[in-house]
Amino acid sequence: MKKVAVLASGRGSNFQALIDAIERGEIPASCTGLITDNPGAFAITRAQKAGIPVHILDFACFSGKDDYEDALCSTMRGVDADLFVLAGYMRILGHSIVREFHGRILNIHPALLPSFPGLHAQRQSLLYGVRVSGCTVHLVDEGMDTGPIIVQACVPVLDGDDEEILSERILEEEHRCLPLAVRLFCEDRIVVEGRRVHIVRGGPSA
Ligand code: GAR
Repeated sequence: MKKVAVLASGRGSNFQALIDAIERGEIPASCTGLITDNPGAFAITRAQKAGIPVHILDFACFSGKDDYEDALCSTMRGVDADLFVLAGYMRILGHSIVREFHGRILNIHPALLPSFPGLHAQRQSLLYGVRVSGCTVHLVDEGMDTGPIIVQACVPVLDGDDEEILSERILEEEHRCLPLAVRLFCEDRIVVEGRRVHIVRGGPSA
């Protein structure tokens, strides 16, 4: 049974999808904590409702990014997790954190990477005029949204879509893909070879 902690900055619907999948017994894991940089995040309410410990690191209360990252790193050490899931965590993790927790951090991104990394991916997709978009769950490396890809799903971009409509369509797939990727990790089924992620059947030793 793995221990999973979540970093989220806002609404937390992906966090909720994880909580629900764990509660349904679909992921062999427990959720050991929510870490947020935003004291107003609705994700906090979701954690409290599910009895998950909450760690609030209000970015505004730190003297700068280094100070905040030091606190984040100690919190991540203290939370006792095998896996950290960035579920709408809207800051870039510092290199030292990525190095310390290498291979143990997943991120969900609302586009088909490597297209449209960074903020407002759905807006970028619409502005570019792509016909297909989607979401990506990947391991976090030191680049921005560049780590090895575990799961992707496509959605069509339809005439008349605006950012909100497209985001909603992508979000439905996010709520399926994130629990799936976390399940694969928790079942020890992810093997990384360079940029390629192989999904093995019953764990690497099977
Ligand atoms: C999701 O669409 C997620 O993919 C995106 O923020 C949203 C959070 O929604 N993340 C990023 O854009 C990270 N670059 P949620 O708080 O309801 O899960």
